[in-house]
Amino acid sequence: MSSSSTAFRIAVLSGDGIGPEVMQQALRVLEAVAAKTTHRFQTTEALVGGAAIDSAGSALPEETLQVCRDAHAILFGSVGGPKWESLPPDQQPERGALLPLRRHFALFANLRPSICHSALRHASPLRADIVGNGFDILCVRELTGGLYFGKTKEIREEGGERVAIDTMVYRESEIERIARTAFAAARGRSKKLCSVDKANVLQCSVLWRQVVNRVAADFPDVALEHLYVDNAAMQVLRVPGRFDVMLAENMFGDILSDELAMVAGSIGMLPSASLGTGTKDGLPFGMYEPSGGSAPDIAGKGVANPIAQILSLAMLFRHSLLLEKEAAAVETAVGAVIASGLRTRDLATADDKKIVGTAEMGDAILQALDSKL
Ligand code: IPM
Ligand code: MG
Repeated sequence: MSSSSTAFRIAVLSGDGIGPEVMQQALRVLEAVAAKTTHRFQTTEALVGGAAIDSAGSALPEETLQVCRDAHAILFGSVGGPKWESLPPDQQPERGALLPLRRHFALFANLRPSICHSALRHASPLRADIVGNGFDILCVRELTGGLYFGKTKEIREEGGERVAIDTMVYRESEIERIARTAFAAARGRSKKLCSVDKANVLQCSVLWRQVVNRVAADFPDVALEHLYVDNAAMQVLRVPGRFDVMLAENMFGDILSDELAMVAGSIGMLPSASLGTGTKDGLPFGMYEPSGGSAPDIAGKGVANPIAQILSLAMLFRHSLLLEKEAAAVETAVGAVIASGLRTRDLATADDKKIVGTAEMGDAILQALDSKL
């Protein structure tokens, strides 16, 4: 799509908790990019999660879904909070909005880059000798299969007690397409892929390993290793620098990506892209969201780190709008601000002097961005 005449349409779903306040900073970045380039962006805000339950009676109203269908990409904040935890599980913000959105748009490939900037080495809970000069790991998580979506999924009565069942199911085609995504990503990086499974216990993992090995034949230039998930979780703490791309099924990827975010310094830094094969006007449709949650404990206080949301916007530029230059400019601006020593509370240690809130972090990124575009 030529962008000088037609606007890119972005569905903005801020959601709950810190979602709206970090989104506000990402939208300022979007405006700055619009002001400095010929691109035009048309944002449409829509209700999602608890905010939507409160004002429209459901976590994912049809109107919101329609806004998403009409858009080139979704910029998502976060959903959930204690207020909605007593609702029936299917109506709660996570299961009623986030998972259906992933499923509806068949967003099976979740990319979660975990970069430990050298300036943030001390924010990692790992020892300095383990962190070394920092690291850069991309977690490729399968997002529409496995335990999250497998049928049967229920709690039923059996022999006078309740029995809960979740089902892990993977089809070969589902494994193959996510494996291809991971190999292709590894090819564009340092050509190392670690596939994570539990093939010593789970049938899904036995199939996973077979299919990944088969796909590997098409990527002879990529070095593939397999690790059991427990070992992988341990190796991340022992030698994070040995990893480049990590591939995992839905649940393992959920857990590993939180671990990777934390060892990189803070979950407030980690963006994500969820992609499928769908397109809009020929552009790859995707949903972009911080990997951390709605953080209800700090919501509304103006202290949340907006970086994960801003970097999610950068991923949206890159993967859905194919605006690589703009994506790189935003990432460089974030890197410069981090290098300058500015810290939100989540990144700070006892030695940090410049602790700022959400809006000031946004200000600094905007200022740094100004010279990059
Ligand atoms: C994530 C989150 C979600 C998930 C929750 C909120 C359902 O933890 O995006 O990692 O488990 O996928
Ligand atoms: Mg998670």
